[in-house]
Parts: sequence; structure tokens; C-alpha cells
Amino acid sequence: MTETGNEKHGERAIACWKSPSNIALIKYWGKRGNQLPRNASLSITLSNAYTVTRVEAAPLAQAGTGPEVEFRFEGEPNPAFAARIEKYLKQLTAYFDFLPDVKLLIETGNSFPHSAGIASSASGMSALALCLCSIEAQLKGQQEDDTFFRKASLISRLGSGSACRSVFGGITVWGSHPAIAGSSDEYAVQLDFELHPVFRGLMDAILIVHPGEKGVSSSKGHQLMEGHPYAEARFAHAAKNLSELAGVLKSGDWDTFAGIVENEALSLHAMMLTSSPWFMLMHPNSLMIINEIEKFRKQTGTKVCFTLDAGPNIHLLYPADEAERVASLKETLRPHCHNGVIIEDFMGNGPEKLSCR
Ligand code: PMV
Repeated sequence: MTETGNEKHGERAIACWKSPSNIALIKYWGKRGNQLPRNASLSITLSNAYTVTRVEAAPLAQAGTGPEVEFRFEGEPNPAFAARIEKYLKQLTAYFDFLPDVKLLIETGNSFPHSAGIASSASGMSALALCLCSIEAQLKGQQEDDTFFRKASLISRLGSGSACRSVFGGITVWGSHPAIAGSSDEYAVQLDFELHPVFRGLMDAILIVHPGEKGVSSSKGHQLMEGHPYAEARFAHAAKNLSELAGVLKSGDWDTFAGIVENEALSLHAMMLTSSPWFMLMHPNSLMIINEIEKFRKQTGTKVCFTLDAGPNIHLLYPADEAERVASLKETLRPHCHNGVIIEDFMGNGPEKLSCR
């Protein structure tokens, strides 16, 4: 460890961050090395679906034996989450030299029910990474500047690949790609050009088709891309889709946007359907909803399209000024949702540091 005049090892430090989930438009599916992507991905950072995490680091009586961890999810101990976090923190001692000297109290909670079937790893891991980076900044007297957020994105990635995209607002890209200046496999970056107005404040209504755990964990899913007969074609296709989407985000061509975004969602599911073993993660109602969206768009010409994660829920994407027309579509789709649940979300500004005690 390099000791600087500002080092405050041996002191208590607290950090608290609110970090949102994100939804990928160009999908990451397949990884290599230590959580590095096989293709670049692009996502919208959301707003209403978020995690709030508070981390308190207290010096251990015996420095160098930590980190010790106490973990509470929504006020309760949660051994399953705690085990995952402990494993994650062990590998982070290479990135944070204060970790072996502290006991961490981690308290976290989501704005959405865990059972809703919304991936919480992106918001959860990015919130935790931001807290750890803030604690390091406090202990070392560092600024929370661009370098800080880049490190927070890298640390998030080590917990869950897609989480690295949640560290920035708007639209972010993770993975090296010639169309995106400064893009890297190590961390995400924000788009460096102005979005066409049609995409600013893009709306995302999350149709909860089926709540609960996914049929396959994403780490298993990524693994299944190794030796997958269509893997190389998929990675090349994702890169081409990203190039085209980058152009569309500037030009504002909604129809091309919708075509690329839907192609990406269906390509992701096609990879799962053609892996060995195969996984069918859509639910019959997912298909009903997709067909209804297509029918409504043809009949009304409304700017609306869909995407899916590795699960059955449908994200309905539309520009803010189409909200009124999409409201009637939502009512048609609601009966296909679990208990009629639709979570209203939109493109947000990224994580927020909260004051905490
Ligand atoms: O970050 P992971 O390992 O949970 O993988 C996420 C994969 C998808 O959500 C299906 C796609 C993506 O890019 O977010």
C-alpha cells in the first residue's frame, strides 16, 4: 500500500448509494476471462427500479484478517446473498487495500419486490461497488471524479457483468467497439454524442409476465455460449447491430431502432433455445404480448417496441410523447401479466450518492 498524507486507515467510513437497474438493447451473452464480454453491449439506465445500499467499514482489532462481513437485505440477514457477497469481496482485496483491515456492515434493499422477476444484480452490484469506491475515497482523501466512476464500473463488472453499465446514466456501452469512443472491455462508458430527441427520456414499461427466479442463471447461460454452434456469428451480429444502433440513436429513425432492438432480444433467446442443454425462458404469455405489440404497431403506427432479458418479462419501450397511445396497448396487455403488474420506468440519470449516518 502506498501511504499518502491523506491515508486514514484505522478510521470508520460510511457510504450510501442509490443505483438503478439497466436494460440492454444490444445484449451481452457470452464471456471470457475474468468477466470480460465476448461482444460489446449497450443499455439504457433505468430510474425507478433501483437498489439502495449502505456500507459501513469499521477497523478490525486485528488488521489484515478481513474483510469480515455482516449483510442485511431489507433489514434481515440473508445467508444466500451474504455468501455471494463474501466470495465477491475476497477477490476485491486486489483492488482495495483497506479491505483486509475492516469489518463491513452492508445493508441493502430494492425499490421493487425481489420476487418481481426484475434482475437485481445490476442495481445491487453497482450500488455496492460505488459504496466500496466511496469508502476508499474517504480513507485516501480522493475525489469522486471520472477515475472514481471508471473504477466503480470495473468493480461492478467483477460482481455482475451487466452491472458495470448501471454506473452511468442515459445510454452506456460496455465492451470495446470501433463506433464508441473510449469503449473498453474493462468498464462501461457513456455515449459521447447527443441522442436524437426521440430517444431522450425513453420510457420502459416492464410487463411482469412471470415473477420469481429465472430458469437458468446468467453465469450458466454465458457458459453455454462456449462451444455454441452459432456463437461466433452471434458475436459478429451483435457488433454489427451496435454499429447500426449508434447511427440510429443520432438520426432518430425509430423503425430501424425497433428492428434492431427486437432482433437483439430474439437473438438472445434464440441462443438459449439452441444451446445444449437448451432453455426456453419465454412464457406463453410473453409470446401473446409480443404478437399484440406487433399487431398494435401495424394498426396504429405508434412508436413502440419490445425487448426481453434472459427471462419471460417484456420491456415495452416508447418515446415519452407516445405515452397516451401506449396506455391503451398496456391495458390490452395487462391481462397477460402476473397479477396485472406493470412497472413504469424510464431512462434515468444514473446513480445518486445519498447522505447517510
Ligand atoms: O450481467 P449478467 O451476468 O447477469 O448477464 C446479463 C445478461 C443479459 O441481461 C441477458 C443481457 C445484458 O446485456 O444485460
